[in-house]
Amino acid sequence: MNKGRAIYPGSFDPPTNGHLDLIQRGAKIFEELVVAILRNSEKTPMFGTSERLEMLKELTADLPNVRIATFDGLMVEYAKSIDAMCVLRGIRAISDYEYELQMALMNRKIEPTLETVFMMPADKYSYVSSRLVREVAQAGGPVKGLVPEVVEQKLLQKLDPAYKLAEVNLIEVPKKRKKKA
Ligand code: PNS
Repeated sequence: MNKGRAIYPGSFDPPTNGHLDLIQRGAKIFEELVVAILRNSEKTPMFGTSERLEMLKELTADLPNVRIATFDGLMVEYAKSIDAMCVLRGIRAISDYEYELQMALMNRKIEPTLETVFMMPADKYSYVSSRLVREVAQAGGPVKGLVPEVVEQKLLQKLDPAYKLAEVNLIEVPKKRKKKA
């Protein structure tokens, strides 16, 4: 088992500034951090696996000890297959704790050698979640500061009807005209 290798599993649909904050913190304490995107969750994701993979690769390009991967099935099985010793998970508030504790203990029951390590993202991200980001963005609200800029652009593209039309008809997206003063 590689003591320096940790896995940070999640849906990352989409990656938020909270996720990125945790990845940066994790990269400082583990020799290698594998950010592992769950491929087939029960939920229908907003972003496909390859989109999430690309976004996370771009966001972590400056972190040489961070690797992005995808997995299916049991997380502990995947962690074992890549020889990871730790699971990194973020806890934003007490409300996260119950679910995270339950998951950590279940994972320990299945694979007792795998340890879960909890870290806290910066408090300014304590209310940020992928679900709320999706909800706000889908309703046309602002997500600036909640997600990295590349993710914000992807959200806009996904939700902008002009882009959707362009995807279907392979037409060029018209540039928005600046309003005259
Ligand atoms: O970011 P999320 O959606 O809270 O991440 C949850 C995730 C992907 C870590 C969890 O659902 C998971 O590990 N799923 C893989 C299947 C599994 O191992 N389930 C047992 C969990 S105790």
